[in-house]
Amino acid sequence: MKEIRFGIIGAGNIAREHLGSMYSAQGVKCVGVCDKVYERAVDMVKDYPDQYRVYKDAQEMVESPDIDAVILAVPNYQHNPMFLLAAKNGKHVLCEKPMALNVKQCEEMIEAAEKYGIKGQMGFCTRFMREIEAMKDHIDAGNIGEAYFGQIDTLRSRGAPTGWFGNNEKSGGGPLIDMGVHYIDATWYLMGCPKPVSVKALNYHKIGNRYPKSESIYAAYEQDTVYNVEDSSHGLITFENGKGIMYQASWSINVPRDGIAHMDIYGTKGGLRRHPLKFIREEESGMTETNLHYLDKDCFTLQHEAFGRVIRGEEESRAPLSQGAVMQRMLEGLYESARTGKEVIL
Ligand SMILES: NC(=O)c1ccc[n+]([C@@H]2O[C@H](COP(=O)([O-])OP(=O)(O)OC[C@H]3O[C@@H](n4cnc5c(N)ncnc54)[C@H](O)[C@@H]3O)[C@@H](O)[C@H]2O)c1
Repeated sequence: MKEIRFGIIGAGNIAREHLGSMYSAQGVKCVGVCDKVYERAVDMVKDYPDQYRVYKDAQEMVESPDIDAVILAVPNYQHNPMFLLAAKNGKHVLCEKPMALNVKQCEEMIEAAEKYGIKGQMGFCTRFMREIEAMKDHIDAGNIGEAYFGQIDTLRSRGAPTGWFGNNEKSGGGPLIDMGVHYIDATWYLMGCPKPVSVKALNYHKIGNRYPKSESIYAAYEQDTVYNVEDSSHGLITFENGKGIMYQASWSINVPRDGIAHMDIYGTKGGLRRHPLKFIREEESGMTETNLHYLDKDCFTLQHEAFGRVIRGEEESRAPLSQGAVMQRMLEGLYESARTGKEVIL
């Protein structure tokens, strides 16, 4: 088996997660890192100086024959330019979520992957979570019948990340594009990726990025002083055949401090709840709820191993770029709907 040699572009928060998770992955290996702030990349691998090469920048990394594929662990506004750079240099790309800032950029990335013959995959790590796999096993077995509606909440009371996350030009939006994307994507994936037809959203800018003393903060490495994204987004996505997903995503809303993480999928024969994982149905004379058990494993390790198999041609991608682009169309439509106050037909 050919081991796929990865480089990580960006040495901030999520790069550290990728680096650690790849260490125990089979068939893939991280061999190099870089960051536009060179010292940051040096610092990230300082305990393992012999195992990783620190490249001067992304350009030097993608030109290196020692690298087969890159992980884009850079802020959202850098996904498109870094993807194009890597593709042009023949490197396969695992792109962190969201795919880009808008659909046009996603289309450019898909075209580049085709033109230069490289494999691309979305960093929809949630699709590799073992509880999501367990839910999918039940859906694929027909246990819930037709999955026709999903209801999700991903809400923090005070949890706006600092830095570029709050600058709309760099992030493309706030909690909807940051956390909502994972929840919406996982639900959409479990429902079989139906074609979206319309979206309607309400976004609020009421609380902002206040950091009371009691709360810990997710500090981005790339700092920024602008904060102009939504606190919370609440909306409905409708799909062909009348299916739907209703969601709420927030960094700042007045819910209990532990926040709310909720995902339900409703089917004609049964339902699935993610937190805690349950299969709900009618049996004999009553409703029953079954706890579902699964063997947990780091979803980042699983997504790295899977992308290695995709690159080797052993399997199709579980998170293809084409689905990243459809997700972007939903997100773009939701932001447009919030701005205009109207339902947006996709
Ligand atoms: N999958 C997940 O659960 C998850 C979680 C957090 C973040 N993310 C995603 O990961 C990405 C990075 O987020 P983060 O929290 O690590 O941000 P961060 O600010 O902590 O780190 C980003 C790093 O990228 C570097 N960088 C920026 N442009 C660069 C370039 N052109 N070349 C090289 N380095 C460059 C910055 O200097 C910084 O060190 C975002 O797209 C975010 O949405 C995903």
